[in-house]
Amino acid sequence: MKIGIIGYGSMGRMILEKFIETKTVEQETLFVSNRTYNKIVDLNKIYPQLNLCGNNIDAVKDADMVFICVKPLEIKIILSEIINDIKSDCHIVSLNGSVLFKHLEQICRNKKISKIIPSVTAEINQSMTLVCHNGYVNYDDKNILKKLIGCFGSFVELPETEIGMGSELTSCMPGFIGAIFKVITDEAEKHTAINKEQVIQMVIETLYGTGKLLLEKKNDI
Ligand SMILES: NC(=O)c1ccc[n+]([C@@H]2O[C@H](COP(=O)([O-])OP(=O)(O)OC[C@H]3O[C@@H](n4cnc5c(N)ncnc54)[C@H](OP(=O)(O)O)[C@@H]3O)[C@@H](O)[C@H]2O)c1
Repeated sequence: MKIGIIGYGSMGRMILEKFIETKTVEQETLFVSNRTYNKIVDLNKIYPQLNLCGNNIDAVKDADMVFICVKPLEIKIILSEIINDIKSDCHIVSLNGSVLFKHLEQICRNKKISKIIPSVTAEINQSMTLVCHNGYVNYDDKNILKKLIGCFGSFVELPETEIGMGSELTSCMPGFIGAIFKVITDEAEKHTAINKEQVIQMVIETLYGTGKLLLEKKNDI
């Protein structure tokens, strides 16, 4: 199975690294492209067998599955660029939750399309990735995709209508918690002689412990 990855930003880099480092995917079956080629040019020093592509068509023309890891405004532009060069049964996977299937399908008619929305916590294999599929994705396609994304944490399948709320609860949550964390530590500093480093450590350990306890006790703390 060959896999194309378009876009080597934070999400493209994360999935590429996880696929290779967990040995879920062989380097030589991965094809990666990025608008700014300089960003990927040195990747062969770390992953010698990885296929670096100078354009998006080269990244997708032989692929069985293609991950589109770009910002929402670029997704339809890229799909229009690659649609005539992908295999007829290629499974397209967008990492963006907000562009609807009906809009993607205007370009990719009768194509298998899924959306996956990871969270930055996938970096440490502690994440809940949201998954949803259009009507062309069959049971086997779903299982292959789940096996791939399982390498960076858990996942949950939701209907497209629930992806907005799901994203608030998962991929947006590290940002929310990070902002609250900053308020707590900044405010604490104003009212205590405990040094900032210790304050941060105390809150981090407590947050971490609370998360673990919630997980173990299923919210019963
Ligand atoms: N970050 C998150 O926590 C997160 C979580 C869940 C889902 N998502 C979704 O994942 C998608 C990617 O987000 P991100 O955070 O990874 O964005 P990002 O860090 O900005 O990366 C986007 C990458 O796409 C590349 N790109 C742009 N246009 C391109 C083109 N025409 N051809 C090839 N490559 C192109 C950019 O290349 P350059 O080097 O030229 O800029 C950049 O490396 C978004 O749709 C986002 O909503 C993100």
